[in-house]
Amino acid sequence: THVVTENCINCKHTDCVEVCPVDAFHEGPNFLVINPDECIDCTLCVEECPVGAIYPELDIPAGQEGFLAINAELALEWPVITTKVPAMEEAERWDGVPDKLPLLKR
Ligand code: F3S
Repeated sequence: THVVTENCINCKHTDCVEVCPVDAFHEGPNFLVINPDECIDCTLCVEECPVGAIYPELDIPAGQEGFLAINAELALEWPVITTKVPAMEEAERWDGVPDKLPLLKR
């Protein structure tokens, strides 16, 4: 599967959802997740993300391994998103800010 990681938090550009052939993205208040049971590892979303937040499961950045479980958990709770919506208002300011996990809204 592919996994949405920390840099999506408070950015949520949603370009990724438009290219997903299996509608695997689910939307929360300030983050998106990929349903690991739907993802077919097509990799199309990786290049679409303007902030580089999406990684293959086996290539998750060190320290962010917990996002695999977070994606699996929240995909069961959040609705599917298939159409791009405006990014978060302060998306540019949050790009690259470290340790955003405590800011994740559920
Ligand atoms: Fe997040 Fe990037 Fe998609 S910021 S919503 S993973 S395009």
